[in-house]
Amino acid sequence: MSKLEDIRTHALSLIEGVSDLLVLDNARTKILGRKSELSLFLRSLKDMPLEDQKRVGAAANALRAELEELFEKKRREFSSASYESALKHERIDVTRPGLKHARGHIHPISRVIKDIVTIFSSMGFEVVEGPEVETEYYNFDALNIPANHPARDMWDTFWLRQNEVKSEKSKVKSDRLLLRTHTSPVQVRYMENHNPPLKIIVPGRAYRYEATDASHEFQFFQLEGLVVDRQISIANFKGVIQEFFSRLFKKKITVRLRPSFFPFVEPGFEVDISCVACRGAGCSICKKSGWLELAGAGMVHQNVFKAAGYTPGEWQGFAFGFGIDRIAMMKYKIPDIRLFHSGDLRFLKQF
Ligand code: PHE
Repeated sequence: MSKLEDIRTHALSLIEGVSDLLVLDNARTKILGRKSELSLFLRSLKDMPLEDQKRVGAAANALRAELEELFEKKRREFSSASYESALKHERIDVTRPGLKHARGHIHPISRVIKDIVTIFSSMGFEVVEGPEVETEYYNFDALNIPANHPARDMWDTFWLRQNEVKSEKSKVKSDRLLLRTHTSPVQVRYMENHNPPLKIIVPGRAYRYEATDASHEFQFFQLEGLVVDRQISIANFKGVIQEFFSRLFKKKITVRLRPSFFPFVEPGFEVDISCVACRGAGCSICKKSGWLELAGAGMVHQNVFKAAGYTPGEWQGFAFGFGIDRIAMMKYKIPDIRLFHSGDLRFLKQF
Protein backbone atom coordinates (compact mmCIF):
# COMPACT_ATOMS: atom_id res chain seq x y z
CA MET A 1 0.00 0.00 0.00
CA SER A 2 2.84 2.39 0.74
CA LYS A 3 4.34 1.56 -2.67
CA LEU A 4 1.04 2.61 -4.25
CA GLU A 5 1.13 5.82 -2.22
CA ASP A 6 4.64 6.51 -3.62
CA ILE A 7 3.47 5.92 -7.17
CA ARG A 8 0.55 8.27 -6.63
CA THR A 9 2.65 11.08 -5.14
CA HIS A 10 5.16 10.78 -7.97
CA ALA A 11 2.46 10.72 -10.63
CA LEU A 12 0.61 13.71 -9.22
CA SER A 13 3.73 15.85 -9.10
CA LEU A 14 4.59 14.80 -12.65
CA ILE A 15 1.14 15.71 -13.93
CA GLU A 16 1.28 18.97 -12.00
CA GLY A 17 4.38 20.07 -13.91
CA VAL A 18 2.97 19.30 -17.36
CA SER A 19 2.71 22.39 -19.61
CA ASP A 20 1.26 21.22 -22.90
CA LEU A 21 -0.42 18.36 -24.73
CA LEU A 22 2.78 16.71 -25.97
CA VAL A 23 4.37 16.62 -22.53
CA LEU A 24 1.08 15.31 -21.16
CA ASP A 25 1.17 12.39 -23.59
CA ASN A 26 4.73 11.54 -22.59
CA ALA A 27 3.83 11.70 -18.91
CA ARG A 28 0.85 9.42 -19.51
CA THR A 29 3.07 6.78 -21.14
CA LYS A 30 5.48 7.05 -18.25
CA ILE A 31 2.78 6.71 -15.58
CA LEU A 32 0.15 4.45 -17.16
CA GLY A 33 2.09 2.80 -20.02
CA ARG A 34 2.81 -0.94 -20.21
CA LYS A 35 6.27 -0.47 -18.72
CA SER A 36 5.20 2.01 -16.05
CA GLU A 37 5.72 1.34 -12.37
CA LEU A 38 1.99 1.01 -11.85
CA SER A 39 1.59 -1.55 -14.66
CA LEU A 40 4.53 -3.57 -13.30
CA PHE A 41 2.98 -3.38 -9.85
CA LEU A 42 -0.39 -4.61 -11.13
CA ARG A 43 1.30 -7.49 -12.93
CA SER A 44 3.16 -8.43 -9.72
CA LEU A 45 -0.15 -8.75 -7.78
CA LYS A 46 -0.51 -12.39 -8.73
CA ASP A 47 2.59 -13.22 -6.63
CA MET A 48 0.96 -11.87 -3.44
CA PRO A 49 -1.04 -13.82 -0.91
CA LEU A 50 -4.68 -14.01 -1.99
CA GLU A 51 -6.15 -11.83 0.78
CA ASP A 52 -3.58 -9.07 -0.03
CA GLN A 53 -4.28 -9.41 -3.72
CA LYS A 54 -7.93 -8.36 -3.23
CA ARG A 55 -7.20 -5.32 -1.08
CA VAL A 56 -4.09 -4.07 -2.81
CA GLY A 57 -5.49 -4.93 -6.23
CA ALA A 58 -8.62 -2.85 -5.60
CA ALA A 59 -6.49 0.08 -4.38
CA ALA A 60 -4.15 -0.22 -7.38
CA ASN A 61 -7.07 -0.28 -9.83
CA ALA A 62 -8.64 2.67 -8.08
CA LEU A 63 -5.37 4.56 -8.42
CA ARG A 64 -5.20 3.65 -12.07
CA ALA A 65 -8.75 4.95 -12.62
CA GLU A 66 -7.99 8.11 -10.67
CA LEU A 67 -4.88 8.85 -12.72
CA GLU A 68 -6.63 8.06 -15.99
CA GLU A 69 -9.36 10.49 -15.13
CA LEU A 70 -6.80 13.10 -14.18
CA PHE A 71 -5.05 12.74 -17.52
CA GLU A 72 -8.36 13.01 -19.33
CA LYS A 73 -9.20 16.17 -17.45
CA LYS A 74 -5.81 17.69 -18.22
CA ARG A 75 -6.13 16.72 -21.86
CA ARG A 76 -9.47 18.49 -22.15
CA GLU A 77 -8.04 21.56 -20.47
CA PHE A 78 -5.06 21.72 -22.77
CA SER A 79 -6.91 21.07 -25.95
CA SER A 80 -9.55 23.66 -25.25
CA ALA A 81 -6.84 26.09 -24.19
CA SER A 82 -4.84 25.51 -27.36
CA TYR A 83 -8.04 25.83 -29.40
CA GLU A 84 -8.81 29.10 -27.66
CA SER A 85 -5.34 30.44 -28.28
CA ALA A 86 -5.40 29.28 -31.91
CA LEU A 87 -8.67 31.12 -32.32
CA LYS A 88 -7.07 34.18 -30.87
CA HIS A 89 -3.79 34.11 -32.75
CA GLU A 90 -4.79 32.64 -36.07
CA ARG A 91 -7.94 34.67 -36.42
CA ILE A 92 -8.41 36.29 -39.82
CA ASP A 93 -10.00 39.68 -39.58
CA VAL A 94 -12.16 39.65 -42.67
CA THR A 95 -13.15 43.24 -42.06
CA ARG A 96 -9.60 44.52 -42.51
CA PRO A 97 -8.95 46.52 -45.67
CA GLY A 98 -7.17 44.53 -48.40
CA LEU A 99 -3.54 44.91 -49.33
CA LYS A 100 -2.94 47.61 -51.88
CA HIS A 101 -1.68 45.67 -54.88
CA ALA A 102 -0.61 47.66 -57.90
CA ARG A 103 -3.29 46.35 -60.21
CA GLY A 104 -3.21 48.83 -63.06
CA HIS A 105 -6.42 50.22 -64.48
CA ILE A 106 -8.47 50.66 -67.58
CA HIS A 107 -7.00 52.72 -70.40
CA PRO A 108 -8.94 55.97 -70.99
CA ILE A 109 -9.98 54.81 -74.46
CA SER A 110 -11.32 51.48 -73.16
CA ARG A 111 -13.19 53.42 -70.56
CA VAL A 112 -14.85 55.64 -73.12
CA ILE A 113 -15.71 52.58 -75.24
CA LYS A 114 -17.34 51.03 -72.19
CA ASP A 115 -19.39 54.19 -71.59
CA ILE A 116 -20.42 54.35 -75.26
CA VAL A 117 -21.45 50.69 -75.31
CA THR A 118 -23.47 51.11 -72.11
CA ILE A 119 -25.44 54.01 -73.56
CA PHE A 120 -26.14 52.45 -76.95
CA SER A 121 -26.97 49.09 -75.38
CA SER A 122 -29.62 50.78 -73.28
CA MET A 123 -31.11 52.11 -76.53
CA GLY A 124 -31.31 48.60 -77.95
CA PHE A 125 -28.19 48.55 -80.12
CA GLU A 126 -26.22 45.36 -80.61
CA VAL A 127 -22.42 45.54 -80.35
CA VAL A 128 -20.70 44.04 -83.39
CA GLU A 129 -17.05 43.66 -84.35
CA GLY A 130 -15.23 43.09 -87.61
CA PRO A 131 -11.69 42.37 -88.81
CA GLU A 132 -8.98 45.02 -88.72
CA VAL A 133 -7.25 43.35 -91.64
CA GLU A 134 -9.89 43.90 -94.29
CA THR A 135 -10.33 43.25 -97.98
CA GLU A 136 -10.38 46.03 -100.53
CA TYR A 137 -13.91 44.93 -101.37
CA TYR A 138 -15.44 45.52 -97.93
CA ASN A 139 -13.40 48.62 -97.17
CA PHE A 140 -14.20 50.32 -100.50
CA ASP A 141 -16.16 48.61 -103.30
CA ALA A 142 -19.06 47.41 -101.17
CA LEU A 143 -19.32 50.91 -99.73
CA ASN A 144 -19.90 52.40 -103.16
CA ILE A 145 -16.26 53.44 -103.60
CA PRO A 146 -15.16 51.78 -106.88
CA ALA A 147 -11.52 51.28 -107.87
CA ASN A 148 -9.91 54.38 -109.37
CA HIS A 149 -12.70 56.57 -108.03
CA PRO A 150 -11.24 59.80 -106.60
CA ALA A 151 -13.27 59.22 -103.40
CA ARG A 152 -10.68 56.61 -102.43
CA ASP A 153 -8.29 59.48 -101.82
CA MET A 154 -10.33 60.33 -98.73
CA TRP A 155 -8.68 57.41 -97.01
CA ASP A 156 -4.89 57.11 -97.02
CA THR A 157 -4.56 53.37 -96.90
CA PHE A 158 -2.06 50.87 -95.56
CA TRP A 159 -2.05 48.15 -98.21
CA LEU A 160 -0.92 44.76 -97.00
CA ARG A 161 -0.73 42.83 -100.23
CA GLN A 162 -0.43 44.47 -103.62
CA ASN A 163 -0.88 41.46 -105.88
CA GLU A 164 -4.44 41.01 -106.92
CA VAL A 165 -5.55 37.43 -106.66
CA LYS A 166 -6.98 36.25 -109.95
CA SER A 167 -9.94 34.07 -109.20
CA GLU A 168 -13.55 33.67 -110.21
CA LYS A 169 -14.50 35.82 -107.26
CA SER A 170 -11.97 38.57 -107.82
CA LYS A 171 -13.87 39.82 -110.87
CA VAL A 172 -16.60 40.92 -108.52
CA LYS A 173 -14.76 41.23 -105.24
CA SER A 174 -11.21 42.43 -104.92
CA ASP A 175 -9.08 40.28 -102.65
CA ARG A 176 -6.38 42.82 -101.94
CA LEU A 177 -5.80 43.17 -98.22
CA LEU A 178 -5.43 46.37 -96.24
CA LEU A 179 -5.74 47.71 -92.71
CA ARG A 180 -9.30 48.99 -92.61
CA THR A 181 -9.41 52.77 -92.91
CA HIS A 182 -12.74 52.95 -91.08
CA THR A 183 -15.25 50.70 -89.32
CA SER A 184 -17.82 51.13 -92.11
CA PRO A 185 -16.99 47.79 -93.81
CA VAL A 186 -18.66 46.07 -90.84
CA GLN A 187 -21.96 47.59 -92.02
CA VAL A 188 -21.90 45.37 -95.12
CA ARG A 189 -20.44 42.36 -93.34
CA TYR A 190 -23.28 42.49 -90.82
CA MET A 191 -26.06 43.13 -93.33
CA GLU A 192 -24.88 40.19 -95.46
CA ASN A 193 -25.90 37.94 -92.57
CA HIS A 194 -28.78 39.81 -90.96
CA ASN A 195 -32.06 41.20 -92.15
CA PRO A 196 -33.62 44.45 -90.92
CA PRO A 197 -34.82 45.78 -88.61
CA LEU A 198 -31.34 46.18 -87.15
CA LYS A 199 -29.52 48.52 -84.80
CA ILE A 200 -25.79 48.02 -84.35
CA ILE A 201 -22.71 49.83 -83.14
CA VAL A 202 -19.19 48.79 -84.09
CA PRO A 203 -16.33 49.93 -81.87
CA GLY A 204 -12.88 49.16 -83.20
CA ARG A 205 -9.53 50.20 -84.55
CA ALA A 206 -9.00 51.89 -87.88
CA TYR A 207 -5.74 52.77 -89.63
CA ARG A 208 -4.68 55.58 -91.95
CA TYR A 209 -1.40 56.01 -93.75
CA GLU A 210 -0.63 59.52 -92.69
CA ALA A 211 1.84 61.69 -90.80
CA THR A 212 1.11 62.02 -87.10
CA ASP A 213 0.62 65.22 -85.17
CA ALA A 214 -1.27 66.25 -82.04
CA SER A 215 -4.62 65.43 -83.62
CA HIS A 216 -3.70 62.67 -86.11
CA GLU A 217 -2.56 59.13 -85.46
CA PHE A 218 -2.03 56.33 -87.98
CA GLN A 219 -4.09 54.08 -85.73
CA PHE A 220 -7.16 55.22 -83.85
CA PHE A 221 -10.56 54.00 -82.70
CA GLN A 222 -13.85 54.57 -84.42
CA LEU A 223 -17.44 53.95 -83.54
CA GLU A 224 -19.71 52.98 -86.39
CA GLY A 225 -23.46 53.04 -86.01
CA LEU A 226 -26.10 51.57 -88.32
CA VAL A 227 -29.88 51.51 -88.03
CA VAL A 228 -32.02 49.99 -90.78
CA ASP A 229 -35.78 49.57 -91.00
CA ARG A 230 -38.56 50.63 -93.36
CA GLN A 231 -39.16 54.16 -92.10
CA ILE A 232 -35.87 55.32 -90.57
CA SER A 233 -35.27 59.04 -91.09
CA ILE A 234 -32.70 61.73 -90.46
CA ALA A 235 -34.90 62.92 -87.59
CA ASN A 236 -34.42 59.50 -85.96
CA PHE A 237 -30.67 59.89 -86.36
CA LYS A 238 -30.64 63.37 -84.87
CA GLY A 239 -32.71 62.19 -81.90
CA VAL A 240 -30.49 59.18 -81.21
CA ILE A 241 -27.18 61.01 -81.59
CA GLN A 242 -28.31 63.99 -79.48
CA GLU A 243 -29.48 61.67 -76.71
CA PHE A 244 -26.23 59.72 -76.94
CA PHE A 245 -23.90 62.72 -76.67
CA SER A 246 -25.98 64.29 -73.90
CA ARG A 247 -25.65 61.10 -71.86
CA LEU A 248 -21.97 60.67 -72.65
CA PHE A 249 -21.01 64.20 -71.64
CA LYS A 250 -23.68 64.32 -68.91
CA LYS A 251 -25.08 67.63 -70.13
CA LYS A 252 -27.64 68.80 -72.68
CA ILE A 253 -26.00 68.68 -76.10
CA THR A 254 -27.49 70.04 -79.29
CA VAL A 255 -26.58 68.58 -82.66
CA ARG A 256 -26.11 70.38 -85.96
CA LEU A 257 -25.96 68.64 -89.34
CA ARG A 258 -24.09 70.13 -92.29
CA PRO A 259 -24.22 68.72 -95.83
CA SER A 260 -21.18 66.64 -96.69
CA PHE A 261 -20.10 63.77 -98.89
CA PHE A 262 -19.38 60.15 -98.16
CA PRO A 263 -19.88 57.70 -101.04
CA PHE A 264 -21.83 55.23 -98.89
CA VAL A 265 -24.55 57.64 -97.76
CA GLU A 266 -27.05 59.86 -99.52
CA PRO A 267 -27.59 62.47 -98.29
CA GLY A 268 -24.46 62.73 -96.19
CA PHE A 269 -23.54 65.16 -93.45
CA GLU A 270 -21.02 66.27 -90.92
CA VAL A 271 -22.29 66.11 -87.35
CA ASP A 272 -21.40 68.98 -85.04
CA ILE A 273 -22.29 69.09 -81.36
CA SER A 274 -22.58 72.19 -79.21
CA CYS A 275 -19.22 72.79 -77.54
CA VAL A 276 -18.97 70.74 -74.33
CA ALA A 277 -16.69 73.36 -72.76
CA CYS A 278 -18.59 76.61 -73.41
CA ARG A 279 -22.04 75.28 -74.35
CA GLY A 280 -22.00 77.19 -77.60
CA ALA A 281 -20.81 80.57 -76.38
CA GLY A 282 -17.43 80.23 -78.12
CA CYS A 283 -14.09 79.32 -76.54
CA SER A 284 -10.60 78.14 -77.46
CA ILE A 285 -11.64 74.48 -77.70
CA CYS A 286 -14.30 75.17 -80.34
CA LYS A 287 -12.22 77.94 -81.89
CA LYS A 288 -14.90 80.51 -80.99
CA SER A 289 -17.47 78.77 -83.20
CA GLY A 290 -19.51 77.19 -80.41
CA TRP A 291 -19.52 73.87 -82.30
CA LEU A 292 -17.33 70.79 -82.40
CA GLU A 293 -17.11 68.69 -85.54
CA LEU A 294 -17.46 65.12 -84.34
CA ALA A 295 -18.85 62.65 -86.82
CA GLY A 296 -19.68 61.76 -90.38
CA ALA A 297 -23.14 60.40 -91.07
CA GLY A 298 -25.92 60.03 -93.56
CA MET A 299 -28.72 57.91 -94.93
CA VAL A 300 -27.38 54.57 -96.13
CA HIS A 301 -26.84 54.60 -99.92
CA GLN A 302 -29.03 52.08 -101.76
CA ASN A 303 -25.88 50.74 -103.47
CA VAL A 304 -24.64 49.65 -100.04
CA PHE A 305 -27.90 47.77 -99.42
CA LYS A 306 -27.48 46.24 -102.86
CA ALA A 307 -23.93 45.10 -102.02
CA ALA A 308 -25.26 43.49 -98.83
CA GLY A 309 -27.91 41.61 -100.82
CA TYR A 310 -30.98 43.68 -99.91
CA THR A 311 -33.53 44.64 -102.51
CA PRO A 312 -32.87 48.28 -103.42
CA GLY A 313 -35.65 50.65 -102.41
CA GLU A 314 -37.05 48.32 -99.76
CA TRP A 315 -35.11 49.63 -96.76
CA GLN A 316 -33.79 52.85 -95.42
CA GLY A 317 -31.50 53.65 -92.56
CA PHE A 318 -28.84 55.90 -91.16
CA ALA A 319 -25.17 55.30 -90.54
CA PHE A 320 -22.62 57.31 -88.64
CA GLY A 321 -18.97 57.11 -87.69
CA PHE A 322 -16.84 59.05 -85.28
CA GLY A 323 -13.41 58.93 -83.71
CA ILE A 324 -13.40 57.55 -80.18
CA ASP A 325 -9.96 59.00 -79.43
CA ARG A 326 -11.27 62.51 -80.06
CA ILE A 327 -14.14 61.93 -77.66
CA ALA A 328 -11.72 60.65 -75.02
CA MET A 329 -9.51 63.70 -75.62
CA MET A 330 -12.44 66.03 -75.05
CA LYS A 331 -13.75 64.11 -72.06
CA TYR A 332 -10.40 63.97 -70.27
CA LYS A 333 -8.88 67.15 -71.71
CA ILE A 334 -6.00 65.34 -73.42
CA PRO A 335 -4.10 67.70 -75.73
CA ASP A 336 -2.23 65.17 -77.92
CA ILE A 337 -3.70 62.01 -79.49
CA ARG A 338 -0.25 60.39 -79.60
CA LEU A 339 -0.25 60.09 -75.81
CA PHE A 340 -2.78 57.23 -76.00
CA HIS A 341 -0.30 54.83 -77.55
CA SER A 342 2.87 56.28 -76.09
CA GLY A 343 2.95 53.77 -73.24
CA ASP A 344 4.08 56.64 -71.02
CA LEU A 345 3.14 55.76 -67.44
CA ARG A 346 3.20 59.41 -66.40
CA PHE A 347 0.29 59.87 -68.79
CA LEU A 348 -1.54 56.62 -68.03
CA LYS A 349 -1.35 56.94 -64.25
CA GLN A 350 -3.45 60.10 -64.34
CA PHE A 351 -6.61 58.16 -65.09
N1 PHE B 1 -16.51 55.98 -92.37
C1 PHE B 1 -16.49 57.41 -92.40
C2 PHE B 1 -15.06 57.89 -92.10
O1 PHE B 1 -14.31 57.16 -91.53
C3 PHE B 1 -17.45 58.01 -91.41
C4 PHE B 1 -18.87 57.72 -91.77
C5 PHE B 1 -19.49 56.60 -91.30
C6 PHE B 1 -19.59 58.58 -92.55
C7 PHE B 1 -20.81 56.33 -91.62
C8 PHE B 1 -20.90 58.34 -92.89
C9 PHE B 1 -21.51 57.20 -92.42
O2 PHE B 1 -14.68 58.98 -92.45
